[in-house]
Amino acid sequence: MHNALKIAILISGRGSNMQKLVEAAATNNVEVVLVAADKDAEGIKWAGKYGLTTSIFKAAEFGGRHPGQETALANAIIASDADFIFLAGYMAILSEDFVQKFSNKIINIHPSLLPKYKGLNTHRRALENADTMHGATVHVVTAALDDGPILLQGVVPIKKDDNEDSLAKRTLTVEHIIYPEVLSALSTKVLEIRDGLPKWDKSALSRLLDQYPNLSIGN
Ligand code: GRF
Repeated sequence: MHNALKIAILISGRGSNMQKLVEAAATNNVEVVLVAADKDAEGIKWAGKYGLTTSIFKAAEFGGRHPGQETALANAIIASDADFIFLAGYMAILSEDFVQKFSNKIINIHPSLLPKYKGLNTHRRALENADTMHGATVHVVTAALDDGPILLQGVVPIKKDDNEDSLAKRTLTVEHIIYPEVLSALSTKVLEIRDGLPKWDKSALSRLLDQYPNLSIGN
């Protein structure tokens, strides 16, 4: 592919967001150059069947996570020549060194409306707080957990009879919209990250927000 945007995707689990990114890559000028996991993630099988290059880096096989496993992972990413690293349910916390090495090139999806509910159990916490709205955020990864500049958010309602599972499912539907949209926007350069800050092309963004009224770029 001529001048394709190259991405690596890191997963730890089923990889539904990874699948959506791979599908979006097929209709954009994007090449998925690596799908890597830190365990025998279910999604790795899917990626392998799809014909993608896959690797598993288990901390135990590299003498621990830092620096062993991360160094091996970083070397694989560098060798893949990826322009961006998309974390898609990658459950390991990346070291400051790793984040620094790929500064402004690591993108994450988090299942909450950041800055609310950084960390784990986001659906449970939203329910416990009797929130009426929940959602997901795509953001640039910085050394602070779930704290980097927001690229795109998607809101879903919380319904009276929701439980963690039903809310997680509804949230996933909006994750599956915002992550591919960010990938597509980066590949067409209607979204760029300059000096660590997102710059959207205004008319492309307003078209996107017209199409999906539940999306926003945060506050
Ligand atoms: C998603 O909810 C994502 O936001 C979170 O972990 C989950 C991964 O799901 N970081 P999947 O593996 O992409 O299906």
